[in-house]
Amino acid sequence: MSAIFDALRRWPDVEAPDLVAVDAADRLILDESAERRASALPGDIVVINDSYGALTLGAAHAGASGIRTHIDAITGERALEANASRVDLSGHFRSVPLDAELVNGARIVLLRLPRTVDALRDIAGLIAAHADPSVVVFAGGRLKHMSVSMNAVLRENFGQLDISHARQKSRVLIARAPRDGRDPTPAAAHVDGLEVRAFGGAFAGARLDIGTRLLLENLPDAPVGGTPDDPLIDLACGTGIIGAWMATRYPGAHVHSCDQSSVAVASAHATMLANGIEDRVTVVRDDMLGARPSASASFIALNPPFHSAAAVTDLIAPRMFGDVARVLRPGGQLWCVWNSGLRYRPLLERAIGPTEQVARNAKFTVTVSTRR
Ligand SMILES: C[S@@+](CC[C@H](N)C(=O)[O-])C[C@H]1O[C@@H](n2cnc3c(N)ncnc32)[C@H](O)[C@@H]1O
Repeated sequence: MSAIFDALRRWPDVEAPDLVAVDAADRLILDESAERRASALPGDIVVINDSYGALTLGAAHAGASGIRTHIDAITGERALEANASRVDLSGHFRSVPLDAELVNGARIVLLRLPRTVDALRDIAGLIAAHADPSVVVFAGGRLKHMSVSMNAVLRENFGQLDISHARQKSRVLIARAPRDGRDPTPAAAHVDGLEVRAFGGAFAGARLDIGTRLLLENLPDAPVGGTPDDPLIDLACGTGIIGAWMATRYPGAHVHSCDQSSVAVASAHATMLANGIEDRVTVVRDDMLGARPSASASFIALNPPFHSAAAVTDLIAPRMFGDVARVLRPGGQLWCVWNSGLRYRPLLERAIGPTEQVARNAKFTVTVSTRR
């Protein structure tokens, strides 16, 4: 097993010596599930929220086939594909959206616990609704990312919950006897005149983050762009709250909202539908602005991420600013909000061009950077 693990990389996600593609929680989930997997038939095994393919490829390497796998982040899904071809296991799995087809009839689920309890509630409900009654769920994570409320959420949907011994600061929750399943439905809220929808795990849930609020309060009255060929871009859109705000505040404007997370994209779709603006807003799952041509955009709004899988890292925003620089046309603008402690201004100046402070409060700074 360690030979395939040694070959796994996080690419195209950020890579650094302290960011790993396989960790102790992945190894513990595989070890705890090994006996059950030994008698699995093709199609029995489902993997949810694998980070970069360790669980899917670990199971495939041990002989599993017909694995259905779902990774929320498109970078994780692409890393899995790249890793699979590196270790010659591409034919053993297929990527499936987080819906009934993913878990239908599953008898073994390997789950990397998501960061939030709300995301776990959606996943647990879906498994309980559609998996085989004999399903066993091996849900593991690092102790620092686990809480007892995760046990409680699993108990809502499973009659039996066993907890593994901790090993290398990781633990596995083993759930059996599914009950009371339900398909995920988004949380709904009315926020400052907008309808917001959020599936479990979307940034800020069905609320307006205080940094996002500062950005919205300071966006220009009449931005350049907003045509079908040059839409206003809502990069890293989460629930789509910035895109929905722009499409309603700038009547007739076309907006392109994108995020790498499938939960975010599903939430943003639901948000646009709830506001009746789906005809002017495209929502796309994408790594940064991968689907946008170079030198094509006049206006991008961004509240940048700081997580890569479970790790908090300062490597993501610079990577994103680089792609913004590629996609902005000369004179195009990035409107960005950031935690003032992160001191992004020199980075923005270097990657994009002259950067002015537009607003600042106790915690956040809003800047506009003009592409040189
Ligand atoms: C701070 S949240 C902002 C969400 C939303 N714009 C708001 O203000 O409420 C950052 C978002 O970046 C997304 N993200 C992280 N890495 C990304 C990438 N490589 N490409 C696109 N989106 C990414 C996350 O999924 C998350 O939804």
